[in-house]
Amino acid sequence: MVRVSGRRAGHRFDAKFGVVTEALLFLGELDPEAIGPSIAHATHYEPTPLGDLEALLAIVPFPIDATTFVDLGAGMGRALLLAARHPFSRIVGVEISPALCAIARDNLAAIDRASLRCGDVRIKLADARTYAFPRGALVVYLYNPFDATILRDVIDRLATRLDRIALIYHTPVERACIDAHPAFACVGETSAGAVYTSSRQNTANATSPSTMLAPHVASTPGQPNHSQPSPGNVDPKTAPT
Ligand SMILES: C[S@@+](CC[C@H](N)C(=O)[O-])C[C@H]1O[C@@H](n2cnc3c(N)ncnc32)[C@H](O)[C@@H]1O
Repeated sequence: MVRVSGRRAGHRFDAKFGVVTEALLFLGELDPEAIGPSIAHATHYEPTPLGDLEALLAIVPFPIDATTFVDLGAGMGRALLLAARHPFSRIVGVEISPALCAIARDNLAAIDRASLRCGDVRIKLADARTYAFPRGALVVYLYNPFDATILRDVIDRLATRLDRIALIYHTPVERACIDAHPAFACVGETSAGAVYTSSRQNTANATSPSTMLAPHVASTPGQPNHSQPSPGNVDPKTAPT
């Protein structure tokens, strides 16, 4: 598979849609006071490489038209814009940095909404650790936004829900805590990341797991198969924020 990623592709994406998403920014140089203590657990801002989310969404084993897509750590909103090409009922970006939220909102204002299949896309300034998820079925997207301290809190809260939940984890540096969680099972992987569903979804789904698996390319936690700098190439515990 040809990987459509890299900075140049990102700049072309931005120019085509009149948005600003291609950047590499450390939160400590942006607005650390506004972010608060969670900055100690955060990675930097970097957008999802083009093409990666498409392949991961293809693994989600339930229809998405009555589903909310939530990007935890939405940054400038590239993943939201990519997800909005699909008929999700709603798309929410949760971002802890006010500066990045402002850029994401500008991007949503700039994009031609006619090019999107989801008409309800919004950005929420919030810490993923305490964010109250919307009701109903969810696809929760994580592009390695924070370390296991916050990830554990997030998945524990999701595990209590009765709704169908798919968790897409790009650059799954901290995947050990999801792999070990009794409420989640991995239903497929790409070279970029892994897709999990909650156990209720696993038992409710009649499809054999083998038919849901995408071509498997092993990705080692902490050593993602990325040819360009990515949040996975920076240890979230030691990375400058
Ligand atoms: C690697 S970027 C991903 C950006 C976006 N999801 C994308 O794929 O294009 C990670 C983002 O997570 C945000 N973040 C880190 N910790 C967070 C937290 N506790 N709550 C919300 N956002 C957080 C960072 O500010 C950064 O914008």
